[in-house]
Amino acid sequence: MKTLILYYTYSQGNTEKIANELKQALNADIEKIETEEQYKGSYDEVVEQGKREVEDQYQPSIKSLNKNIADYDRIIIGTPTWWYTMAPAIRTLLNEYSFEDKDVILFQTHAGWSGHTLIDLEKLCRGAKVLNSKAIQFDSDGGSDTT
Ligand SMILES: Cc1cc2nc3c(=O)[nH]c(=O)nc-3n(C[C@H](O)[C@H](O)[C@H](O)COP(=O)(O)O)c2cc1C
Repeated sequence: MKTLILYYTYSQGNTEKIANELKQALNADIEKIETEEQYKGSYDEVVEQGKREVEDQYQPSIKSLNKNIADYDRIIIGTPTWWYTMAPAIRTLLNEYSFEDKDVILFQTHAGWSGHTLIDLEKLCRGAKVLNSKAIQFDSDGGSDTT
């Protein structure tokens, strides 16, 4: 079974860390989702910008994927939690690409307030077979230690 891991990471690379561990464990391919425009400013400023974006269900432009989803049977999608849901870049990913008929595993990293992220992600994975979703908690101050 060929597996592709797609993830977004912003602050400490927490989501990236989990994605890389999965890559090692599963011998999977991996690709980071990147916004066309980088977030600027302090962590707190991005937290505030993120709040507005989540409220508006804003979908930032993301760089095109280099990997072809059609080449994979199983897709793992990882997101940091932004205001109790997925990061906006992952909302864009799920709306721009189809994961229909794929086995999909979802994971989120969070700082103690996991919200409704996994439910929201699953809703956007139209036609996919969603398995084994998982939340992984890191530091409550947005840091990089798992609890
Ligand atoms: C804009 C923004 C909003 C956040 N909202 C939440 C939240 O609602 N719940 C939570 O537990 N953590 C929240 N966090 C913390 C991150 O989800 C957490 O630190 C995550 O592991 C960061 O992953 P990353 O290092 O891959 O970006 C937020 C962080 C940012 C930047």
